[in-house]
Amino acid sequence: MQIKPRLLTGDTPTGRLHLGHWVGSLENRVLLQKQYDCYFIIANVQGFTTRWDRPAEVHQNVLDVALDYLAVGIDPKQSTIFIQSEVPAIAELTLFFSMLVPFPRLMRNPTIKDEVRDKGLGDNYPVGFLFYPVHQVADILAFRAELVPVGEDQVPHLELAREVARRFNQLYCGVDPHTEDKDYVARGGLFPVIEAKLGRACRLVGIGAPNADGNLLKMSKSLNNAIFLSDDPDTVTKKVKSMYTDPKRLRPTDKGTVENNPLWVFHEIFNSDKVWVQEAEERYRQGAIGDVECKKRLIDVLVGIIEPVRQRRLQYEADMQQVLAILQEGTERARAVTGETLQLAKQAMQQQYFYFRT
Ligand code: TRP
Repeated sequence: MQIKPRLLTGDTPTGRLHLGHWVGSLENRVLLQKQYDCYFIIANVQGFTTRWDRPAEVHQNVLDVALDYLAVGIDPKQSTIFIQSEVPAIAELTLFFSMLVPFPRLMRNPTIKDEVRDKGLGDNYPVGFLFYPVHQVADILAFRAELVPVGEDQVPHLELAREVARRFNQLYCGVDPHTEDKDYVARGGLFPVIEAKLGRACRLVGIGAPNADGNLLKMSKSLNNAIFLSDDPDTVTKKVKSMYTDPKRLRPTDKGTVENNPLWVFHEIFNSDKVWVQEAEERYRQGAIGDVECKKRLIDVLVGIIEPVRQRRLQYEADMQQVLAILQEGTERARAVTGETLQLAKQAMQQQYFYFRT
């Protein structure tokens, strides 16, 4: 049997997943399942970093993410879906790894800074929030994953995982600090120094108007500008009809702007009829095609993508026992892999004193 390299990625459960997740990451995952031994983490502890006061919501969000994963075509026979809090080796590794991360380094993480600002966390956020990047490093390294496909905002966390892997390998496995990233494991390191893999459109815009600076905002549940993978055709239709386009174009005969216009951003990403898109953009610029026609096309394209996903979700939703069984099985597999890593890490750190009869 050929051993496939391991891939790890996942999501913080904050609600149902949307088209931004699809182009940023989900689409990639479905494609990579055959080549890689895939582990998909539902990071519920990370969910608690901003929702510690809403446990029922986190619980529901975990189930929603699991449903969305299965619905987009993550195949539980091939891949492993698991719940972060139920894998204790991750938490144990987090503590050891935290020694390898200088405190000021955490404070400089641009994603953390953005989140503090965008989520209005002020300066009163919990220690656990600041700590989550270290936890995420453990999520990744516990699987000794070689590939971690994520969206752009996660790159600073991956950089931290690379730094921790290098330091661990140097300090505890005796790997020469001049070693190239790709050679760490071959030189005796325990942890691969991973590479990031970005999705084809890393940051999808939402369907709403730009902010005061004129920038279109990222698609996000909390900004109320998302099209969900579980939206029914009527909802998709309503959302596309209300989608922000070129505000200066009042009639189909007015010249329109294609750049930075969500209507065309979406067509370019999702519409596989590239010839039509190019021609239609030209006509839009010249005032020779109406918004209504372009939106109607987009509705057909998006419903074509979302509807099969939604149907599959409905099937799984009707059998939540099966979904829980999939999660439990996946979590058991994750415990086995990460338990082995923890043991190897403790050996490397000279902190394995006995073998327990489990
Ligand atoms: N931070 C990621 C997000 O919010 C979720 C996540 C947790 C993750 N652990 C991970 C992603 C490990 C990749 C690898 O979407």
